[in-house]
Amino acid sequence: MDFVRQDELPIGSTPASPLVSSPPVLTDLQRRELECVEFFDSPELSHLPTSRRRDVLRELHRTGTYRQTAEEILIGAKLAWRNHARCVGRAHWRTLKLLDARGAVTAAALAEACWEHLRVSTNGGALQSVVTVGPLPREDGQEYRILSPQLIRYAGYLRDDGTILGDPWHVDLTAQVTAMGWKGAGTPFDVLPVLISVPDEPLQYFDVPTDVVLEVDIEHPDYPWFADLGLKWHAVPAVADMDLDIGGIRYPCTPFSGWYVSTEVGARNFSDTDRYNMLPTVAQHLGLDMSTDRTLWKDRALVELNRAVIHSYRKAGVIMVDHHTVAKQFIDHIAREDKAGRTCPTDWSWVNPPMSSSLTPTFHRLYDEPDLDIRPNFVTKAKKGVCPITG
Ligand code: ARG
Repeated sequence: MDFVRQDELPIGSTPASPLVSSPPVLTDLQRRELECVEFFDSPELSHLPTSRRRDVLRELHRTGTYRQTAEEILIGAKLAWRNHARCVGRAHWRTLKLLDARGAVTAAALAEACWEHLRVSTNGGALQSVVTVGPLPREDGQEYRILSPQLIRYAGYLRDDGTILGDPWHVDLTAQVTAMGWKGAGTPFDVLPVLISVPDEPLQYFDVPTDVVLEVDIEHPDYPWFADLGLKWHAVPAVADMDLDIGGIRYPCTPFSGWYVSTEVGARNFSDTDRYNMLPTVAQHLGLDMSTDRTLWKDRALVELNRAVIHSYRKAGVIMVDHHTVAKQFIDHIAREDKAGRTCPTDWSWVNPPMSSSLTPTFHRLYDEPDLDIRPNFVTKAKKGVCPITG
């Protein structure tokens, strides 16, 4: 239901009729109780004794929280993945694995849980989908947080002349850990330490052990010069800055990962002008006419760059899916969901690839409206001053 606040109505428009009732405003606890009921009513939990639902609800009502079992968290996390309207990889939602790190209540223990996440998810290149669930906030409200956006991120160094070495997205994080005493090697691909905040300890950073970071050197199947560009990327995209919301409980410290769609690396991380901005370099090596956009030099360089990414991950034995294949898998997933009697709310602009979208079946159709309130779900932390679309 579209809901417009009276004070937001355009000037000159008639206020909504008082006969149109507005949705009831729930307290935070009431909303979480509702989510708890919904969660324990979901068919995926129908094997639990009915007393469990009653007990957790009573506990939630009395104390404002309750302790979920590892099984409940795993099922909730799978449903969160299935519900996430921006994910095109949802076909694999049943395969998710849980690492229960709720007992990791020191920064060092949390860092160790992060490395374990990388070990299990990397799996020598045969990537596994994993979520690690860290501790809930303490009773006094103090939280345990991983402040890095992903477990593996490359540093961005702002040079005196205003240019940036490395990943421009991480200039602020790099400056922050540098001010805390970290020193990178000064290459375009220095793995940043993970920044962790826990109650009763100062903010700390932890160097990611090299043996848990699998990386792929990028080369091209046809052009030997491509390897000399010195590009590489990490195998595992382990998102660390989203909350996991299950049955009225919000876990703020939950890194999760699957595997890359090739375009995330080739068409965004390497190609965006505010990231590694490699298209001009690739186009130059290809000898393309770059005098005008009309020659489509960017588009041609983009294709070759993405071929190189797909080729290199495959050669290295690291799982990655191309945008054509993942789109087909997603369409099959929607059909299976439909058969199971479920809708599949989807954000069109997120599930379509950033290149050649119209060549994929995800482009040529509409979807159930994305529903931001649907739970369980992975939810973005509210960040001040950050664009909600691009992060
Ligand atoms: N787009 C992000 C990156 O390039 C990763 C987001 C998660 N992607 C994924 N395939 N699970 O690092």
